[in-house]
Amino acid sequence: MPPVEHPLFSRVWSWAMRHEPGDVVRGRIELLEGLSGRVLEVGAGTGSNFPHYPATVREVVAVEPDRVLREEAAVAAAKCETAHPETRIRVVDGTFEALPDDAAGPFDAVVCALVLCSVADVPASLAAAHDALRPGGELRYYEHVATDGWLGGVQRAVDATFWPRAFGGCHTHRDTVGAIHGAGFEPVRHRDVRMAPRWAPVPIAPIALGVARRAD
Ligand SMILES: C[S@@+](CC[C@H](N)C(=O)[O-])C[C@H]1O[C@@H](n2cnc3c(N)ncnc32)[C@H](O)[C@@H]1O
Repeated sequence: MPPVEHPLFSRVWSWAMRHEPGDVVRGRIELLEGLSGRVLEVGAGTGSNFPHYPATVREVVAVEPDRVLREEAAVAAAKCETAHPETRIRVVDGTFEALPDDAAGPFDAVVCALVLCSVADVPASLAAAHDALRPGGELRYYEHVATDGWLGGVQRAVDATFWPRAFGGCHTHRDTVGAIHGAGFEPVRHRDVRMAPRWAPVPIAPIALGVARRAD
């Protein structure tokens, strides 16, 4: 697996996370509510989810391959641990496709926020999530997903041209929920969310927010 380093994107993302819209923050809170025990978060970015873990979560192992983002996540983790010492947050280097030994399971949940759009290999990532979970453990997702119609056409066009290079490998037209259900997870709940009005040509507007359970 080649290293995941996007120096320009990571700085843009870091800025964006300091100006995150309230709707996205509410999505993060919904993503994490009700979690408990040990959680694996992959592609944790700057650690934007960390403040929203419920106190019932005992440990979060946060994997982040990009050095700039990982350093920010470590600072965010230290801040959260000071405010909420009941939840230990460990930030480690690694990728979804090849999880490091530091991220050894079993976990009660795996959290994916805006990351399955960016990984190089979705099936390998979901297989790693499946292996890391205890039987019955939950995959929590908050992801950009493919849509149909004219906006689906916009997604395909941007994915084939500038988007992945400009935005750290992000692909807007992935059938991520289909991939999750095809990877040994059964649906628990699901909600379609829009990040922008229907008329706006924003390829990342369609978001899937939900829970799937390891089926075996
Ligand atoms: C759009 S950012 C989202 C960050 C964070 N999850 C959030 O919700 O703010 C995408 C993240 O996926 C990470 N990423 C990209 N490829 C990855 C891979 N193969 N394995 C794990 N993380 C990856 C990036 O470094 C970045 O942190």
